[in-house]
Amino acid sequence: MDTSVSYLGLRLAHPFIAGASPFGYRLDNVKRLEDAGCAAVVLHSLFEEQITDADEGRIAHMDTSEAEFAEPIAAFPPTEDYALTPDGYAEHIHSIKRSVHIPVIASLNGRTAESWLRFATVIEQAGADGLELNMYEVVTDLEMPGLAIEHRLKSVVTELKRVLKIPVAVKLSPFFTAFANLARQLDAAGADGLVLFNRFYQPDIDVTTGTAKTRLELSTSAELALRLRWLAILYGRLRPSLAVTGGVATANDGIKAILAGADAVQLVSALLLHGPTYVAVMRRGLERWMEWNKIAALNEMRGRASLATTEDRSAFERANYIRTLHSWGK
Ligand SMILES: Cc1cc2nc3c(=O)[nH]c(=O)nc-3n(C[C@H](O)[C@H](O)[C@H](O)COP(=O)(O)O)c2cc1C
Repeated sequence: MDTSVSYLGLRLAHPFIAGASPFGYRLDNVKRLEDAGCAAVVLHSLFEEQITDADEGRIAHMDTSEAEFAEPIAAFPPTEDYALTPDGYAEHIHSIKRSVHIPVIASLNGRTAESWLRFATVIEQAGADGLELNMYEVVTDLEMPGLAIEHRLKSVVTELKRVLKIPVAVKLSPFFTAFANLARQLDAAGADGLVLFNRFYQPDIDVTTGTAKTRLELSTSAELALRLRWLAILYGRLRPSLAVTGGVATANDGIKAILAGADAVQLVSALLLHGPTYVAVMRRGLERWMEWNKIAALNEMRGRASLATTEDRSAFERANYIRTLHSWGK
């Protein structure tokens, strides 16, 4: 049975990879992921704020030594809270690459198209097999139009592709008005992969204190449906590989993501909850499903439940919407 896939041009034994998470902080944990059978690993992110702080003493354009910025700067984690400095991150990649054989994808996480992105070449020189770019931003500026955000994302990818030889994946938010068009623009800019989707960690409000409180809850399968929809819509229409991140909790979730069109299936919450060996459960579940359905190679099942052969996808989505409303009580 052939479960191998190509993701970002990298050959993987199977689609299940470890997504960006604290497992990346330490070499022994990355080794554990490899030993457990992860086909590749995405390291935790190096943040724009860490790079600009180290290079220019500035965070979000604010000078960290200026008293007037003390309050907004204090909202960011202090330097010592990060697992690694930027240079430490590069050295970490170097030592991981000496110790593991699976592909290692580094992650840069920021929001501007500025000079911090030059660190991508340091990451490449350190030996990373690929780069995952996460431009995470909640755009609150009343003057900032959606087109400007898309343009910035596209120019960052164009610039990274100009300077890097390693493949670049873009981890995206689903909150774009016309996501399919954005995906096509990123394809045109040279992106090698699209990672669907970032989770937004939304603060709650503590009614006892009447103040906002942040919390990090691990995902459940409930988050998968949004990803399945967009995988199914995009499958077969773009050049970049497609990866899913968010809500893959069981082997069936992984199978669904592949049927919708995913090349790679990223796991984070499931590995944090059950430990790295959970990847074997995912893999076995996929192999059993393939056996049961007499499928010899993953390519035969990938995208089977996509909208690749649907002529008018928008009409299909609209029809499904109306049918779903009508299904109530039947
Ligand atoms: C504790 C924790 C740390 C994370 N760190 C990062 C990170 O450094 N960079 C990043 O792009 N995503 C990060 N993520 C997001 C995950 O990579 C992933 O996209 C998200 O958890 C959804 O996948 P899941 O449902 O499998 O957990 C983190 C998630 C968790 C739970």
